[in-house]
Amino acid sequence: MDKYWAGLTDHRRRTSEIAISKLFQDDPQRFQAFSAEADGMLLDYSKTALDETALAGLIELAEQAGLADRIAEMFRGDAINVTEKRPALHTALRASADAVVEVDGEDVMPGIRHTLERMEGFAGAVRSGAHKSATGARFTDVVNIGIGGSDLGPVMATLALAPYHDGPRCHYVSNVDGADITDCLKGLDPQTTLIIIASKSFGTIETMTNAATAIAWLRGPLGEQASQHLVAVSSAQDKTAAFGIPPERVFGFADWVGGRYSLWGPVGLPVLMAIGRDNFRAMLSGAAAMDHHFQTADLRQNLPVLLGLIGIWHSNICGYATRAILPYDQRLARLPAYLQQLDMESNGKGVTLEGAKVSRTTGPIVWGEPGTNGQHAFYQLLHQGTHVVPTEFLIAATGHEPELAHQHDLLKANCLAQSKALMAGRSPEQARALAASRGHTDSDLERMTAHLTFPGNRPSVTLAYPRLTPFVLGQIIALYEHRVFTEGAIWGINSFDQWGVELGKELAESLLPLVQGGKDPSKDSSTLGLVAKLSVPKSAT
Ligand code: F6P
Repeated sequence: MDKYWAGLTDHRRRTSEIAISKLFQDDPQRFQAFSAEADGMLLDYSKTALDETALAGLIELAEQAGLADRIAEMFRGDAINVTEKRPALHTALRASADAVVEVDGEDVMPGIRHTLERMEGFAGAVRSGAHKSATGARFTDVVNIGIGGSDLGPVMATLALAPYHDGPRCHYVSNVDGADITDCLKGLDPQTTLIIIASKSFGTIETMTNAATAIAWLRGPLGEQASQHLVAVSSAQDKTAAFGIPPERVFGFADWVGGRYSLWGPVGLPVLMAIGRDNFRAMLSGAAAMDHHFQTADLRQNLPVLLGLIGIWHSNICGYATRAILPYDQRLARLPAYLQQLDMESNGKGVTLEGAKVSRTTGPIVWGEPGTNGQHAFYQLLHQGTHVVPTEFLIAATGHEPELAHQHDLLKANCLAQSKALMAGRSPEQARALAASRGHTDSDLERMTAHLTFPGNRPSVTLAYPRLTPFVLGQIIALYEHRVFTEGAIWGINSFDQWGVELGKELAESLLPLVQGGKDPSKDSSTLGLVAKLSVPKSAT
C-alpha cells in the first residue's frame, strides 16, 4: 500500500502550485469529468484540486485496499466489526421486500419486516387516535428520550422532513442536564404525551436518568397508569421488561445495528409517528437506492466512493484536518451534528483492525452549520484564515415553499457564490483596483490591498438534489454512511466500534460520589479544586 500512498503524495507535491481555477481554464468541460450522479443526486467535485492522475491514484488505492471485497463483506453480513465480533448490517433494515440477508445461516429479513410492520401498526394507531392515552385522550405529543445514535438521527430527520409532518408533535430529550427535560416537558400535558425511551443498551445513564424523570412526571396525574404512556426501543429486551414496559410496546433491533446507524429501524419510530408509513418507507427506499448504487456502480462513478476518496485526498494527501458540512437547507440544520457522530465516532480511531498503530491520520474533525447563517459567522476564516477547510455544500433545486421561490433563488445564488469565491478568491491586482476605487491611496492602498485579497484555491464539493424529500434524505444519509465506510476501509480501521467513549463514562461514575460530598484525596489537585469550587452548601440546594 505504501507505494500507492507515496505516488499520491508525490503527485500532490508536483502539482500543489496549480490553482483549481487553472484546471477549469485548461479544461472547460471539467464539470462533466469531475461530477457524478445517482438517482437524481449529483456530486460535483470539480472544485477540488483533483486531476485525472490523482483520481486514478486514489481509485488504485481503494482497489489495493480491497474496497470492493470490504463492501461485499458488509452487505453479506460478515462479522466486520471485529472487536465486537458481529456484522454491521444496518443496510438490512432498508433492504427490499425480497432481499435475503443471513447472519449465522439464518435469514434476518423476516424479523426486520415484522418489526417494521409492528412499528407502522403502532405509529398508525397513535397517529389516527385509535391508540389512546390512559385517560382515553388522543396522543398529541411524543417525547423521544435517547442520546447519541438514539437521538441524533431521529432529531435530524424529524427536522429535515418537517413539510411531511401530519402526526403528533415530536420532541427530543438527550442531555442529562435537567434543563433539557424540564424545558421540553414544560409545555406538555402528561395526559396526552407518549414517551419513547430509546437506548440500544438500555443502560445509558443519561437516558435512564431522563426516563426516570419523565416517568415521575407522568405519574403525577396518571399514577400507575403512567406505564401506558411508555414505549421502549432497544436491543436489550431483558432490560425493557424489567422496566415494566409490556412487549407490545417494545420495539427491538439486533446488536449488529450500530447505534449511529440505527435510524432505519425502531430508533426511527418518532420520525415514523411524525411523517407516516409511506413517507418513512420512501426514506428507506432512498437509502436502499444508495446502497444499490454503492454496491454496483463503477468506482469512478460511485458517489460514496468518490466522496470517501476526496476525503482521503484532503486529509491524508493535502493535510487538511477538518471538514465543514454546509447545508444550504435550513431543515438540514442538524445534519452536521449527526455527521459528527457518524464520522468521528466511526473513524476517530488510532489503531488498525489488527490492533497496530495507524501510520497516517484517520477521521477528520467534522463540523458545520447551515448556510446562509454560517456566512455571517465563520466563513471569514474559510475565505481568508490560515487554515484550509474543505467544504461540503448541500443544496436543493427547489424548496417546499413555492410562494417563496425568490428566497430559494437567493439561497442557491449564495451557495454557488461561496463555492466560487472559495475557489477563485480575489487576486492582489483585483484587490488593489477595488481599494483604489474606494479612495485608498499610498501606504493605505497597500495595506487595504492585503486586507482585500482572498487567496482562493480552497476546495469544495457540492451535493445537489431536486428537493429534500424523504427519498432524498435517505439517499443523503446512506451516502455519508458509505463514505465513512470507504474511508475506514482504506485506513484499515474498524468503523463500527467506539471504545473511546468508555473511559469518560467510567470516570464520571467514579466521580459522582465525590461531587456528592464524598472524599477522595487520591484525585489530582485540579479535580479536587474544581469539586470544591462546584460544591453547593446543603442549605442552597
Ligand atoms: O457513548 C456513545 C454511545 O455508545 C453511542 O455509540 C450510542 O449511540 C450512544 O452512546 C447511546 O447508546 P444507547 O443507544 O445504548 O443508549
